[in-house]
Amino acid sequence: MSNEIICNCMGITHGEIVTAIKEKGYKTFKDIQNETEAGTVCGGCEDDIQEILDEYLTKE
Ligand code: FES
Repeated sequence: MSNEIICNCMGITHGEIVTAIKEKGYKTFKDIQNETEAGTVCGGCEDDIQEILDEYLTKE
């Protein structure tokens, strides 16, 4: 988990996204958008968020 900013528009960090995936059980980019607002402005971080999702969802 890190403080690296993934979504520049909303200032959402890697750690916040991981928390949403792990603690709330979110599985899609849309879920992350609704929960954290990451990806709701320019959409440029979608691939990065998807990558984090893929990484954590395949670990389970
Ligand atoms: S960087 Fe995430 S919406 Fe723009």
